[in-house]
Amino acid sequence: MEWTGYVLSAHIEPIVLNEAKRMTSLYISTKNKDKLRELRELLGDEVEIHHPGDQDEDVEEIGSTLWENALLKAEEGFRRTGMLSIADDTGLEVDALNGEPGVYSSRYAGADATYQDNVDKMLRELNGVEAASRKARFSSVICCVREGDEPRRFDGVLEGTIIEQARGYNGFGYDPIFVPESDTRTLAELSAEEKNRISHRGRALRAFAQWWRTQV
Ligand code: IMP
Repeated sequence: MEWTGYVLSAHIEPIVLNEAKRMTSLYISTKNKDKLRELRELLGDEVEIHHPGDQDEDVEEIGSTLWENALLKAEEGFRRTGMLSIADDTGLEVDALNGEPGVYSSRYAGADATYQDNVDKMLRELNGVEAASRKARFSSVICCVREGDEPRRFDGVLEGTIIEQARGYNGFGYDPIFVPESDTRTLAELSAEEKNRISHRGRALRAFAQWWRTQV
């Protein structure tokens, strides 16, 4: 079995898990370092997180919905490790683009697109579109697969607007061009704690953690 794991260090505002019986460990099917960082910050240091190593093969995201991709990744994690496994899939849906790029957000500007390529393409596509039509939302779906249970789904959504020029250096992906509805700053101008408090992934993960702590 090939997986790497480590115990987390202290983080701000971790999800408070069952005090009496500590959570043990889980497997997260992602190699994305940005996501791993956010997940560590959100789960806190009571949880031992295991994840695929660089040498492990990627799970191909061939699903046509966020749920299908999250399920594929979580099932593969469970097959590899036998541990309770979770995976998230996230998409950015833009109203003026009829909900695109959605499930294809990572490949919006092509198979090998960088975050910057995707941001540039989106700003080009929305060039001239007025503010009222630039509404968008991040949707995260987390799938949890464990022994003897049906796969479980947890959702998180963050509503906001795509602005005309990128701002900020924190976060990743489309963060520099997305202003959440509760703020005037982009996600890339928020601190990690501020983003985690309101983000799609934060909401989905807190829903997962709330359920998980009832299970031990
Ligand atoms: P994934 O398929 O869940 O890895 O996410 C698809 C793409 O959505 C990523 O490659 C990023 O470009 C983007 N994305 C996912 N989560 C976030 C986020 O929290 N902020 C900004 N972009 C994100």
